[in-house]
Amino acid sequence: MWSLLKNALLTLSPFIPSSLIFSDNPQSASKAYHGPFTDGGAWSEAFENAREVTKHMTIEEKVNLTTAVTGPCQANSGGVTRLNIPGLCFNDGPSGPRYTDFVTQWPSEFTAAASFDRDLVEERARRIGKEFRGKGINVQLGPVTGGPLGRSPYAGRNWEAFTPDPYLSSTLSFLTVKGMQESGLITCAKHYILYEQEPVCVGPLDDEGGRTGCKDVSSEVDDKTMKELYLPSFAETVRAGTGAVMCSYNKINGTAACESDDALNRLLKDELGFKGFDFGATHSTIPSVLNGMDMELPGEYYYGQRLLRAIKKGSITESRLDDMVHRILTPWYAAKQHIYYPKINYQKYDLSDKKEVNGHTWKNEHVDVRGDNAIYARKVAAESTILLKNSGVLPLRSLRRIGVFGTDADYPSTLSGCGPDLFCLVNSKRRYWNGTVTIGGGSGAAYADYIAAPIEAISLRARQNGIRVDHVLQDDSAHYGSMGWIAYQSEICLVFVSLFLVEGWDREHLKLDKKGEDLIKHVEKNCAGEVVVVIHAGGQVIVEDWIDLPKIGAVLFAGYPGQETGNALVDILWGDVNPSAKLPFTMGKSPKDWPTDNIVRKMGKGHYPVSKFAEGLAIDYKWFDKQHIAPRFEFGFGLSYTNFEFSGFDIIERYEKDKDSIQKTNEKYLGQAGLYDTLYVARVNVTNIGKVPGAEVPQLYMSFPESEKEQPPKHMRGYGKKYLEVGQIATFEFPLRKKDLSVWDVKQQLWKIPHGTFTFRVGNSSRSLPLEMDFSIYSSH
Ligand SMILES: *[C@@H]1O[C@H](CO)[C@@H](O)[C@H](O)[C@H]1NC(C)=O
Ligand SMILES: *[C@@H]1O[C@H](CO)[C@@H](O)[C@H](O)[C@H]1NC(C)=O
Ligand SMILES: *[C@@H]1O[C@H](CO)[C@@H](O)[C@H](O)[C@H]1NC(C)=O
Ligand SMILES: *[C@@H]1O[C@H](CO)[C@@H](O)[C@H](O)[C@H]1NC(C)=O
Ligand SMILES: *[C@@H]1O[C@H](CO)[C@@H](O)[C@H](O)[C@H]1NC(C)=O
Repeated sequence: MWSLLKNALLTLSPFIPSSLIFSDNPQSASKAYHGPFTDGGAWSEAFENAREVTKHMTIEEKVNLTTAVTGPCQANSGGVTRLNIPGLCFNDGPSGPRYTDFVTQWPSEFTAAASFDRDLVEERARRIGKEFRGKGINVQLGPVTGGPLGRSPYAGRNWEAFTPDPYLSSTLSFLTVKGMQESGLITCAKHYILYEQEPVCVGPLDDEGGRTGCKDVSSEVDDKTMKELYLPSFAETVRAGTGAVMCSYNKINGTAACESDDALNRLLKDELGFKGFDFGATHSTIPSVLNGMDMELPGEYYYGQRLLRAIKKGSITESRLDDMVHRILTPWYAAKQHIYYPKINYQKYDLSDKKEVNGHTWKNEHVDVRGDNAIYARKVAAESTILLKNSGVLPLRSLRRIGVFGTDADYPSTLSGCGPDLFCLVNSKRRYWNGTVTIGGGSGAAYADYIAAPIEAISLRARQNGIRVDHVLQDDSAHYGSMGWIAYQSEICLVFVSLFLVEGWDREHLKLDKKGEDLIKHVEKNCAGEVVVVIHAGGQVIVEDWIDLPKIGAVLFAGYPGQETGNALVDILWGDVNPSAKLPFTMGKSPKDWPTDNIVRKMGKGHYPVSKFAEGLAIDYKWFDKQHIAPRFEFGFGLSYTNFEFSGFDIIERYEKDKDSIQKTNEKYLGQAGLYDTLYVARVNVTNIGKVPGAEVPQLYMSFPESEKEQPPKHMRGYGKKYLEVGQIATFEFPLRKKDLSVWDVKQQLWKIPHGTFTFRVGNSSRSLPLEMDFSIYSSH
């Protein structure tokens, strides 16, 4: 089938060398570029600068700006030295600058999301942004803002993103882009779009343990689900002014996402009004350029010389090339990187002082960009540690003897010895990590300069309190004898279990690594006192095997907390920090609780895998709600060492014009008020009625009127977090924007507020919502 298409294309456009053609979408090659051409939007001054300087460039120079060159960074684009325009330096990733040293390994995005704390997440972003800037990186390859969103618990990269809930993901994506770009860094929201699983690989592992026979999945999603579920987080990054977007590896309706006219030109650049540049996985020259891809990275394959030839032959107009250059330079001017920006002072190849590549010498000056970020990373990690179960054993008090079990409490066997992807090979099997898991592998990884291992932090803290700590930092049943012996003499048994995930590998099951379940059960059987389980995992795990066993006193889900892991954990264990994090996804009781086909593992008829998003809007808690499935732990659930009371729930009309959009979107809607204007404010009072201070996260959920038959039972539409002293009362306000109250009308192709009665509920999780109110909304807004 592919060769048939290729032949057809050759007949259509005889002047295009066959080496340029690599597309399932041959029609686009003969089509002229129809825009949208950027006008810079709110970056009008920057756009004028870009337009002016482009006038002075040769075609070769313009092409250079769109093409990769060799350089010290993970990816480098070409520049125009003659006009003082440097090439740009691009580097991963969402949890800190990857490939280099004297940086912070931050808690990953989904871990930070569990804090449900807007200020904390924004400050995390600001600090990460400054670290990138300090290394001279112009464009950060992050944040992950909804590709993946987290449709399936099996997806190997969900931990790199925030959460499957589009409201939580949207709010955190907005703040993260805004916070990171405050330092003058350019962010690259990724991966655009419908990237909800890894490619399907049917070949054997190669000699290096790599996968073979891999094909990208085609995601097939209806218009409504696209608009209401998968697109909103990207819309927020455009509003927040992200300078770049990275398209994804998957196909959309059979066309590569990076050459999808629908995804790039129609949705991103036209409907969302994105004014920056898009780059990603190139599969072609002409179709990619015409369908909206502005830059090719990380190597020169289809752009560069091939793009130059296509322009010279007239297959691509120079006006489109100008648009590509405008899109690349406008964010650079808008970020004021032309006035001053630190020079690149690291090289991606290794951590040595210098590296020679192709006759160039790239230096690592080991610039320390961390400042006091370790303190803040510890705070984020502690605020994001979710207490799932507590018999009262936590916080730890008046005890003398602790036993610690599991390799996950130990130092990793190396910080960078397994190469830049942070994964080690064992018997040619990837997805393997020795020691405590603080981050996943692949492009979401970040180097740590140290790991505050749980055993280190626990030993130090215990020593201060005169507590004896014994440990067996193993998982293997060969060590069960000594584990049983130590457990039997311990007042508290701390068991560490983990799940290490790596880009390129979806999960086969929802269990822990290294038979963690057996380890927990073995320690539980033998422990003299109660067991505290600490889970470091990149997603949902099934806990049914062990969670209700009599001696399981407490369970902490710590996600991927980054380098300060042990310190943050000690803060929670001893109650210096009262846990306040909530699950940013649903934990089911059985793999059968999720739709069975939401990860595809086989090729389809077209010789590539096809994933039909049949569950539509109902992912995560919306699926559990719709199917009446009782989860083990619902979205939004998390315990505290204190108790809170909710009261005085009301909703008032309060119009407020959108003040925070940096760039405006072109989304169509019915009525006068803007889509991002606030129309109403929901309010609730929360009182700390317990015995210790702590923070609570009240959550607002909304049900659309019954006439909206396709809608799942409820949608999160507000959350907040405040620290309350004992007895203190606080009022939380949840602004409701027009878009929060709207559905996408597929027929009319616009957003509108549906007629009828809405129901709003507020409480401490998606399944514990004691306060409820029906509310009619004036659709005329
Ligand atoms: C392309 O960019 C590189 C890196 O900035 C530069 O060295 C080279 O001279 C540029 N080529 C042209 C044609 O401007
Ligand atoms: C993919 O196809 C479906 C069904 O025809 C359509 O509703 C949807 O809009 C298409 N997606 C894109 C991004 O064009
Ligand atoms: C990790 O531990 C396993 C089992 O002890 C060992 O075989 C392997 O060599 C270790 N890998 C690394 C990278 O240290
Ligand atoms: C959540 O609120 C419910 C009342 O709706 C209460 O019974 C429960 O204890 C609260 N949970 C937490 C974790 O505070
Ligand atoms: C909510 O708390 C505020 C003080 O923060 C108080 O003024 C108000 O009366 C309370 N509302 C209700 C309904 O309890």
